[in-house]
Amino acid sequence: MSRASIGLSPELSHYLLSVSPPEHPVLTGLREVTDELDERNMQIGPEQGHFMAFLLQALGARKVLEVGTFTGYSALAMALALGAEGRVTCCDVNEKWTAIAREHWTKAGVESRIDLRLGPALGTLDQLLDEGAEFDFAFIDADKQNYLKYYERCLRLVRPGGVIAADNTLWSGKVADQREVDEDTIAIRHFNTTVAADNRVVVSVTPIGDGLTLLLVQ
Ligand SMILES: C[S@@+](CC[C@H](N)C(=O)[O-])C[C@H]1O[C@@H](n2cnc3c(N)ncnc32)[C@H](O)[C@@H]1O
Repeated sequence: MSRASIGLSPELSHYLLSVSPPEHPVLTGLREVTDELDERNMQIGPEQGHFMAFLLQALGARKVLEVGTFTGYSALAMALALGAEGRVTCCDVNEKWTAIAREHWTKAGVESRIDLRLGPALGTLDQLLDEGAEFDFAFIDADKQNYLKYYERCLRLVRPGGVIAADNTLWSGKVADQREVDEDTIAIRHFNTTVAADNRVVVSVTPIGDGLTLLLVQ
């Protein structure tokens, strides 16, 4: 996993960012703080942040669900794009990483737009279903072996015409290498073939970041 989009040379990645909208300074600061962590590559890259912000604006989204928040970069990029009326519900299990997230959400003045729910995401999604919650957009970016379970719940939580986006679906290219047989790679391959054949959604697999699969809910 890396934060630059898969297959882009460092030069082209640099050029892409030079012709993209400027990154919010708190997002830049959050990337720098996350760089100090061994798990830094779990964070989405800036071009993916721009792309998801663009998608939310194109959809006219107000309510967003995130499964896997880490230090809060994707949640912050989305909260900034949604504007003052928007709400992001975030699911994560890790208190240390989400403390960094909260600090930066506050710094950017969007903490009131974000509802962080700490605990295993399957339980949180079931709770949201019980609450009758509805979302315009869901971003799945947590443990890979639960992707299909998150997807099934998101299909019930996202309104028709809304979008589910699943991250890391090209998995650094490992999905295309049959010698790779670890459990995460197998889970992502299974996710990819399952959603490709699912007529409840319109699917587009995009090579942004580490592969971002977009699923338009019918
Ligand atoms: C790839 S990171 C998310 C990156 C984040 N979207 C960003 O752009 O910075 C995956 C996150 O999923 C969380 N996670 C893993 N298993 C989980 C579970 N069962 N329930 C909720 N969160 C989980 C991890 O704690 C980690 O923070």
